Amino acid sequence: MTRPALAILLCAAALVVGAARAESPSPEIIARGHSLTDAADCASCHTSDPAQPFAGGKRIDTPFGAVYTPNLTPDRETGIGSWSDDDFYRALHEGISPSGARYYPAFPYPYFTKLTRDDVLAIRAYLATLKPVRHATPPPDLTWPLNHRVLMRGWNWLYFTSGTYQPNPAKSDQWNRGAYLVEGPGHCGACHTPKTFFGADRTDQMFGGSEIGGWFAPRLDSAPRSGLASWSAAGIAEYLQSGRNGKSHAGGPMAEVVVNSTSKLSDADAQAIAAYLKDLPAGAAEPSVTPPSPEQMANGAKIYKGACIACHETDGSGSPHVYPPLPGNANLQSADPLSTIRIILDGAHTVTTPRAPNTGSMPAYKNELSDQAIADVATYIRNSWGNAAPAVLARKVTRARTQH
Ligand code: HEC
Ligand code: HEC
Ligand code: HEC
Repeated sequence: MTRPALAILLCAAALVVGAARAESPSPEIIARGHSLTDAADCASCHTSDPAQPFAGGKRIDTPFGAVYTPNLTPDRETGIGSWSDDDFYRALHEGISPSGARYYPAFPYPYFTKLTRDDVLAIRAYLATLKPVRHATPPPDLTWPLNHRVLMRGWNWLYFTSGTYQPNPAKSDQWNRGAYLVEGPGHCGACHTPKTFFGADRTDQMFGGSEIGGWFAPRLDSAPRSGLASWSAAGIAEYLQSGRNGKSHAGGPMAEVVVNSTSKLSDADAQAIAAYLKDLPAGAAEPSVTPPSPEQMANGAKIYKGACIACHETDGSGSPHVYPPLPGNANLQSADPLSTIRIILDGAHTVTTPRAPNTGSMPAYKNELSDQAIADVATYIRNSWGNAAPAVLARKVTRARTQH
C-alpha cells in the first residue's frame, strides 16, 4: 500500500471510530439514565420474572380491567430494540406508540411528560445496555368500551397535557429539583393524588391522599395531623432512603417503591424531594372528628391491651425505628383508615434496605379478630394519646378483607 493510500485509510478509520463515538452515549449519560430509571421505578412495573428484569409481562390492574407491561429490553422483535430515539421520546412524552396508538394511563406518561428530552434519552441509553430478552406482551384484558385504544384520544384530550417541567424561578434549585423528581420521574401523584372516576388526577387535590391496591397512600402535604407537618425534611429523606424513620415504616405499596426506587436516590435527590414536600401547602382541611362512642373506645382499649401493647406499649410510644410510635402518626390519622385496617388484617414485615437492614414484624390478626374488633381497635388508636380521626366502621373492615 502506498503511503497516501494508507493515510487515507487511517483517516477513514478515524472517521468511522469518531462517528461511532458520537453516536454511542458516554458512560456518564448511561449512569444518569440508570439513576433516573431507578427514580422512575421503571423496573417495578416492567418486570414480572425477577430473573428477566425489564422484560415486561407484569399484570397491572386498573378499575377497568388489566393491562400487561411491555418488554423494555433491546430485543428487536418483542422489545424496543428497533425503536428510534424519537419513538421512545414520543411514548414517554405524549403517550403515543410508534404506530400512533394511544397508551393507557396505567403507564405513568402523564407524569413522565415532565422529563426533559435529554433525561428521556439518557434512560433510553441505559435501557439499551440491557441484555435483549425475547418476551412478547399479552394483550390487555379491559372491559368494553375501554378495550378500544382510540378512546384514549378522548381521555388525553380531556385530562392530559404534555409538557416538560418548567422550573419555578421564585424557588431554589433544590426545590426545583425536588419538584421535578416528584412530579416527573417519581410519579408520586400516581398513588398519592385522589383520582376522578376516569382515573385522572384531581388537580384541585394534588397529593391529598388516595386509595391504592387495598391501602391508603396518605396525603403528602402539610396537613397538621394526617399530612407531613410534623415530619422534618431529614425525616422524610430518611423514610425514602431506608424505608422507615422514627415516625413510621413503609409497609405496603410504598415498601416496593422504597426498595426498587427511593432507597437508590442520592442524598442530594432525597433531600430535594423532602424540601419540596415540606413546602407543599396543606390542601383540604382535616376532617372534623366526632368523638367515637365510649363503648367503641372501651372495646378498642381492651383489644389493644390484650394484643398490641407487647410491641406498641400502653402509651403507644412503641420503639422508634423498630415499632413505629402511634401518637401523632400521620398515616394512622388519615381520613381513610384503609392502611391501618390492612396492616392489622395482614400484618407486615419491615422492609429491609442497605441503610436499615434489620427486620421486624407485625403479626396478622385477620383470623384472630372479627371485623368489629378490628374496627374498634383501629378507632381506639386513631383517637388516643392526642390522635383524632373519624371512627372506623366494621363494614369498612369487611370490605377491606376482599381488597388487594
Ligand atoms: C406504574 C407502572 C409503570 C411504570 C412505573 C412504568 N411503566 Fe412503562 N408502561 C406501563 C404500562 C401498563 C404500559 C402499557 C400501556 C398500554 O398498553 O397502553 C407501559 C408502556 C411503556 C412503553 C411502551 C412500550 C411498547 O412496546 O409500546 C414504554 C416505552 C415504557 N412503558 C417505558 C417506561 C419507562 C422508561 C419507565 C420508567 C421511566 C416506565 N415505563 C415506567 C407501566 C409502567
Ligand atoms: C405505588 C404507589 C405509590 C407510589 C408510586 C408512591 N407512594 Fe408513597 N406511599 C404509598 C402508600 C400506599 C403509602 C402508605 C404506607 C405504605 O404503603 O407503607 C405511602 C407512604 C408514603 C409516605 C409516608 C407518609 C406517612 O404519613 O406515613 C411518604 C413520605 C411517601 N409515601 C412519599 C412518597 C414519594 C415522595 C413518592 C414519589 C417518589 C411516593 N411516595 C410514591 C404509595 C405510593
Ligand atoms: C410483635 C410486635 C407487634 C405487635 C404485637 C403489634 N404490632 Fe403493630 N407494628 C409492629 C411493627 C414491627 C410495625 C411496623 C411494620 C412495618 O415495618 O411495616 C407495626 C406497625 C403498626 C402500625 C402502622 C404504623 C405506621 O406507622 O403506619 C399500626 C397502625 C399498628 N402496628 C397497630 C397495631 C395494633 C392495633 C396491634 C394489635 C392488634 C399491633 N399493631 C400489634 C409490631 C407489632
